[in-house]
Amino acid sequence: MKKTIVLLPGDGIGPEVTRAAAAILRESAQEFNHQFEFEEFPIGGAAIDAAGTPLPNETLDGCRKADAVFLGAVGGPKWDALPVGKRPERGLLDLRKGLGLYVNVRPVKLLEPLRGISPLKADRLGDLDLEIVRELAGGMYFGEHGHTTEEGVERAWDSGMYFGEHGHTTEKGVERAWDTESYSTPEIERIASFAYARAENRSRRLCSVDKANVLTSSQLWRRTVTAMSAVYPAVKLEHIYVDNAAMQLTLRPAQFDVILSSNMFGDILSDAAAALVGSIGLIPSASFGSSAPLFEPIHGSAPSLAGTDSANPIGSILSATMMLRDAFGLSLEADWVEQSLQRVLSGGYRTPDIAEPGARAVGGSVFTEILREEMQRTFEHAERYGWGV
Ligand code: IPM
Ligand code: MG
Repeated sequence: MKKTIVLLPGDGIGPEVTRAAAAILRESAQEFNHQFEFEEFPIGGAAIDAAGTPLPNETLDGCRKADAVFLGAVGGPKWDALPVGKRPERGLLDLRKGLGLYVNVRPVKLLEPLRGISPLKADRLGDLDLEIVRELAGGMYFGEHGHTTEEGVERAWDSGMYFGEHGHTTEKGVERAWDTESYSTPEIERIASFAYARAENRSRRLCSVDKANVLTSSQLWRRTVTAMSAVYPAVKLEHIYVDNAAMQLTLRPAQFDVILSSNMFGDILSDAAAALVGSIGLIPSASFGSSAPLFEPIHGSAPSLAGTDSANPIGSILSATMMLRDAFGLSLEADWVEQSLQRVLSGGYRTPDIAEPGARAVGGSVFTEILREEMQRTFEHAERYGWGV
């Protein structure tokens, strides 16, 4: 199989975790005789420094032509003083928008060898295996911005390609800022169809998150998702308010299978869910839409860890296996990486964020190298005795 993969390392620990994902993809290509061609482009703060903008046109064009895109992380204190629309994070939002990515899947699955590092007691944790399906192209994240001053009243907006409304004013010395949450029926339907289909292929339970007791946009969300359940009779639909969802995730996370949420609620709940398995460094994500799919760990750029080789590459490596499985249909390759990862963890190897006393603590690059060696060992074994071990 021949594929072009674009790598967007970004900022902070982004380049380190991108190297890990690329190493695992290269190893897969080599052992299974695929041709993966890698191209690299700047995004985020690195792109601001190199080209004056967080998403240069060449980066977006390169991604549009790719079969799949991998992103490390964006952001850092160096660019914190920039206005919202010019920060590194804007590069990621514009990339999602530019690739038409409206679906973001975040699987939160307990890795058995890491059961002990969960902050939850074992009986509460259960066999945690859920997926957050987050709407990615609408809601509060995308809107109008601007800035003007009329008779001592400052007002701000920009009309653009985005939905919703954001703003910032100063009226008689009083500052005001706002961001508007807005969803249309088609926007809700397209993300809900994805979540229903995902649930159909799992335990057939779908839990839709909203705040329909307060927000009008949530009422439309709930009505639309409910109406669609007639099309998916095998899926058991439930609704939950976002505040209760946060509590239930902490109390009894194993009750969830597929969680459907808006852009903002999904961002918040996915960090909370990640904490349950022990580290945000463990969670991958995949985004789909009208152009190339994007794979990225859900963690941030962790500027304080950058350059110390202590970043956990597992979220990144699992994003690479999602690429193999969900973008290229290479599930054997993905299973092989994931099984090898389980064995490396069972062998006691840990990056600092998940190292318990007595663990074999290693840096991210060493961990990746150990995994690569384990993959090679497994491969030889599989060639001799057949797959399915
Ligand atoms: C995430 C991140 C991003 C988001 C930021 C970096 C823009 O927090 O992917 O969860 O809010 O979507
Ligand atoms: Mg987030």
